[in-house]
Amino acid sequence: MSTTMTFTIDGKPCIAEQGSYILGAAKQNGIYIPSLCNIDGVAPRGSCRICTVKVNDKLMAACSTPVTEGMTIENDTEELREIRSQILELLFVEGNHFCPSCEKSGNCELQALGYRFKMMIPRYPYQFPMREIDAAMPKLVKDHNRCILCKRCIRAIKTDDGKNLFAFKDRGHKLTISIDPSLASTITDELAERAAKICPVGALLKKEVGFAQPIGTRTYDLEPIGAEVERAGTAK
Ligand code: FES
Repeated sequence: MSTTMTFTIDGKPCIAEQGSYILGAAKQNGIYIPSLCNIDGVAPRGSCRICTVKVNDKLMAACSTPVTEGMTIENDTEELREIRSQILELLFVEGNHFCPSCEKSGNCELQALGYRFKMMIPRYPYQFPMREIDAAMPKLVKDHNRCILCKRCIRAIKTDDGKNLFAFKDRGHKLTISIDPSLASTITDELAERAAKICPVGALLKKEVGFAQPIGTRTYDLEPIGAEVERAGTAK
């Protein structure tokens, strides 16, 4: 029995292994679908919805929807670009994202998507919430102003003995990422680095490092987010 499936994205014939999700399968076929909460190799949660695509006229999260044989997927359409722009603008106004003063600038996926979607002034009013900056830990700074609640840190960062370092605290508009207080003081440099890297924005930053990589040389200073995937696609 064949282990591959055929499907189309915006009319382009694609192939994927059985069990693939749309987002990963698109990437393998050189098609970029924007994502924020997804992490390669970690079970998807579908929480940010920036990867929204259309399958059989229904809006679906590409990261958590498995590909099926013969599936017809819409990705790069006017309607979907508009939906993704709205989600992006909501994420920007809901927090306090002041890119010029953020250490993650140039390596921030939210900022890079803002550029990719040519975002100017959001259509929604800025909320300017009052949020805490937690600098009490020895290795990490946690800035809730920039957190987009994507859960990447909760899902991907574990201690060496498999304990979750991060968890959600409170509910509704008070929902925040918290760190187990008994583990916070034991975070190693390596773990702090991993946490800062897995965070798509500047909500988790490693202490004692600042602007080690000069502005202008950072990942998305050099090329737009998704360019690598699209380049691989045109080389096929
Ligand atoms: Fe799919 Fe966030 S990347 S919902």
